[in-house]
Amino acid sequence: MSDALEIRDLHVRFHTRRGLYRALNGVNLRLARGEVLGIAGESGCGKTTMGLGVMSLLPRNASYPQGQVVFDNKDLVNLPREYSERVGDRFSPKQNERILRRVSKAMAPIRGRRISMVFQEPMTSLNPVLPIGFQVGESIYVHDPAQLARRVLARSKATPELTRELVSLLAATHGDETSVRKFAAEHDLAGIEEQALFVWSRGDIHISRKEKAIRALSGQPMNFVERWIIDTVVRARSIPWYLSRIPILSRIVRRVLMREGNRKARELLTSLGIHHAERVVRMFPHELSGGMRQRVVIAIALANNPEIVIMDEPTSAVDVTVQAQILELVKRIRTSVSASFIVISHDLAVLAEVCDRIAIMYAGRIVEVAPTDEILHKPLHPYTQMLISAIPTLEGKPVEGIQGDVPDMRAVPSGCAFHPRCPFAFEKCREVIPTDLPHGSDQLVACWLYEGK
Ligand SMILES: Nc1ncnc2c1ncn2[C@@H]1O[C@H](COP(=O)(O)OP(=O)(O)O)[C@@H](O)[C@H]1O
Ligand code: SF4
Ligand SMILES: [Mg+2]
Repeated sequence: MSDALEIRDLHVRFHTRRGLYRALNGVNLRLARGEVLGIAGESGCGKTTMGLGVMSLLPRNASYPQGQVVFDNKDLVNLPREYSERVGDRFSPKQNERILRRVSKAMAPIRGRRISMVFQEPMTSLNPVLPIGFQVGESIYVHDPAQLARRVLARSKATPELTRELVSLLAATHGDETSVRKFAAEHDLAGIEEQALFVWSRGDIHISRKEKAIRALSGQPMNFVERWIIDTVVRARSIPWYLSRIPILSRIVRRVLMREGNRKARELLTSLGIHHAERVVRMFPHELSGGMRQRVVIAIALANNPEIVIMDEPTSAVDVTVQAQILELVKRIRTSVSASFIVISHDLAVLAEVCDRIAIMYAGRIVEVAPTDEILHKPLHPYTQMLISAIPTLEGKPVEGIQGDVPDMRAVPSGCAFHPRCPFAFEKCREVIPTDLPHGSDQLVACWLYEGK
């Protein structure tokens, strides 16, 4: 099976009055399906730039002189790269803005729907004047309204007999997801499965209440116009233009689907460990604690069942106890959804908790990538070794700081960018950029020490 995402030789530059920042200098990375891949490195090494670059969300002063981001056999950065290649040094942020508008259009079916991102600072991605439920619901309404329509339609079609059968199936299979999905597909009830599975998986209510709640999914009342609108959205898999242009119809579509969005928001927030979600959906971002806000932005990222979720520093805005809860949550999510994850953090200890593999970034390049165990116990690159020795341990082993400073990205050192800080640097390191050298079956290291080994 092909990878979920492949980044090939990606270069990104920021054009500023203070000079040209070479933020990414040839990133090569593969994200396998279903894996959690960590990206670690000191602040300023290009982690966020890489995450935003994948989503084509970089600001207008960013150019892509080289490289590809391959998702579903398509290159997501071909438009801005072609522009950057064409104009070279004559790159103009103003002209690039026009390209970015085209990119936004091309990315609309992907961004927020098939690939989503949890941004570094949760407060910046939430609107302070809108209630939480509205914001979660809106993100589904905008990206995948058919998902909401399917849920409404399924409830209207479900008869009391069918929901009773569903309860028996859940009890007999102990809530087996595949069986429930098969049942929904066979009875033309696509959309009911996630609602039933959600109720079944709740640990906070008694079994009798669960059964009652699942039986209550049958027979959603709808008038003729609502039924026709919902049918149309499900068949078209989006909101057709005539429904959004005719004011009276567009008002009904929005009312019915946003009500459903709010319902799904309550489910999502409950499944992400927020108690009293029915109250939280009516609250505003400033009324929530940092941990709750982080859960809300994770809920928004997961709302459209994306294939890839990029989390940028998911624990940096919360204190240590909440950090542990968020990490537990990420571990739980990965077992319950089929997405692949990229988790970005400057803190290797955070990544070690949740990731299958970890890539180490330095000066806009990946210098080592390996399964988490190998990175922690057999780090090869001198920079990885320094990062590991900087992790505090419970035994109180003396923590060694990392010598030297992160390079100025306007003047990246020649050859191996790490050579001014590397205790093992030799002549070749100063002149030639190291290539990715395979080590064992699943480790890659970009360091001349391992050439020929
Ligand atoms: N909009 C921008 N304009 C100019 N330089 C930028 C911009 N965004 C990031 N940079 C530069 O790119 C480099 C990488 O930044 P970033 O990707 O945010 O690093 P990280 O997330 O690893 O801390 C830094 O040197 C930073 O100063
Ligand atoms: S290539 Fe040379 S300078 Fe770079 S990490 Fe390896 S030994 Fe150090
Ligand atoms: Mg960052």
